[in-house]
Amino acid sequence: MAEPRHFIDLWRLAPSDLRAILDDARARKAARKGWPQGRVDADAPGAERTLAMIFQKNSTRTRFSFDAAMRQLGGDVIISTAADMQLGRGETVADTAMVLSRMVDAVMIRANSHDDVEEFARVASVPVINGLTDRSHPCQILANFLTIEERFGSIDGKVLAWVGDGNNVCSSFIHAAAAFNFELRIAAPAAYGPNAVDLARTAERQGRVEVTDDPRAAVAGADAVITDTWVSMGDTDHDARLAALGPYQVDAGLMALAAPHAIFMHDLPAHRGEEVTAEVFDGPRSTVWDEAENRIHAQKSVLAWCFDRLGKV
Ligand code: CP
Ligand code: NVA
Repeated sequence: MAEPRHFIDLWRLAPSDLRAILDDARARKAARKGWPQGRVDADAPGAERTLAMIFQKNSTRTRFSFDAAMRQLGGDVIISTAADMQLGRGETVADTAMVLSRMVDAVMIRANSHDDVEEFARVASVPVINGLTDRSHPCQILANFLTIEERFGSIDGKVLAWVGDGNNVCSSFIHAAAAFNFELRIAAPAAYGPNAVDLARTAERQGRVEVTDDPRAAVAGADAVITDTWVSMGDTDHDARLAALGPYQVDAGLMALAAPHAIFMHDLPAHRGEEVTAEVFDGPRSTVWDEAENRIHAQKSVLAWCFDRLGKV
């Protein structure tokens, strides 16, 4: 049997596959413009397929977008929190993977520990999708790229400035820099800088990533200014984070240093008055609602790729 097509981290995928997923997402979104949300795409690449979703952490966008995505692909979903499963009482990740592989066609997991998702994928005989871990959030980045390409035509040659915590979402941008032709500038305080292993891997693959502690330098002339919450799920040092990250707030003054056409992006949920001012978040350069909607479109193509049905039905 062919190896399952896991979607765990962007650096593990061939750049050509990532490009095919993004192109499919753009075409699929255009083809259903004006349709009701529940109508199934003409080619129904999820037909006769069931996706299981396991949530160990809270979620709004990931939960609803994957559910809506499977419906639009003509498939079905089963959703559970990890706490409601025997996982929550100590059944192993590996045994859970064995069982679900006999019952569904793919599994999406939002987990506290990245290692658990890797372990699940090692054992599963069906595709496993990372719906966010402590270390990465690959689905989110595809939604960002779809949004950027809708605005600018292509990601090629663009400058993306990440300002704030060098967290899991930041790591997935670093992973993407090895696969796509763009420049990533990260401005973060030393205590909350990006993952060194991710930086080294992307550098080895000639990805263009620069790290600074100066948000103004990172944003200068950028095409997109991107941030995320300063306190991610599972972080316990709330006060220290707010103190260290205060100078990294995205406000109108910082946005003024970016390119005149620059957009503001945020994966959500947002905290107005912390990582971004309300003026910027709710302002005309903000693309946050497109970015949230694009979770559905990007993930439909991830699912179609996992089912090996991209462009085949
Ligand atoms: N951006 C994102 O993944 O949102 P949720 O935590 O609501 O799924
Ligand atoms: N960095 C955030 C992203 C939420 C979608 C977190 O992990 O909580």
